[in-house]
Amino acid sequence: MVTLNMKNSLVAVILANILAGTMPGMMVKAQCDNRCAANECCSTFGYCGTGPEFCGANCVGGPCSNNGISIADIVTPEFFNGLWNQGATCPGKNFYSRGAFLDALNSFTRFARTGSVEESRREIAAFFAHASHETEGFCHIEETDGANKDYCNETMTQYPCAPGKGYYGRGPLQLSWNYNYGPAGSDLQFDGLGAPETVAHDPLIAFKAALWFWTKYVAAAMSQGFGATIRAINPIECNGAERDKVQSRIDYFTRYCNQLNVAPGVSLTC
Ligand SMILES: *[C@@H]1O[C@H](CO)[C@@H](O)[C@H](O)[C@H]1NC(C)=O
Repeated sequence: MVTLNMKNSLVAVILANILAGTMPGMMVKAQCDNRCAANECCSTFGYCGTGPEFCGANCVGGPCSNNGISIADIVTPEFFNGLWNQGATCPGKNFYSRGAFLDALNSFTRFARTGSVEESRREIAAFFAHASHETEGFCHIEETDGANKDYCNETMTQYPCAPGKGYYGRGPLQLSWNYNYGPAGSDLQFDGLGAPETVAHDPLIAFKAALWFWTKYVAAAMSQGFGATIRAINPIECNGAERDKVQSRIDYFTRYCNQLNVAPGVSLTC
């Protein structure tokens, strides 16, 4: 980079960003895994090295510093235990764990760590707000009555539905549809189309699937405010007919922002 003039660097950065946007960090990470030394970071562009260029905002593997926050220090056991709906029958209580969440983050080292510390806290609050809404307080592991609903889009022929398998909501963000299970499975190395139930059986895969969806479809909307993340997850709610759902997500978000000591920011609704 240092040998390039300003204009070329800019082009290189733009190209690299386009590339980074189309290549999930974890795939790049896999490319780096056997090449980078223990003290080297793997950048999102697939290079090993030390210093902020490799270990900073673009770091996807190794001893990343990113913005220096520790998600484990923000998502404390007290915060995590406060997520649960106090209902008596809450299957999620024996499934979702803070340990699984933190382990899943090893595959998503950019989650909530690329902007300011404030933005990190806000993104964590937003992730848990949507998950709390989707699972009704981390109680549902999978969608009630999901097996009776059709989540197979047959026009997406690259993600063929397996006979007898249901691609209904599972995990913290209730991953749905064959066109999400297929690529999530390839990226996370489980059989998304042949064994979608894995997301409801393995807490680590459940959190990874949620972080996969978040990283791919939602995280970028954070810069426009929480409302934009609602639209990214379920645009139907933003057309005015499902105000109660929008409000439920906002209520969780403002509560978690309070707990994590960060202002909820602008444009909460959609
Ligand atoms: C199925 O996928 C096609 C092609 O992407 C899309 O046009 C259509 O809206 C989808 N249908 C449903 C029900 O999601």
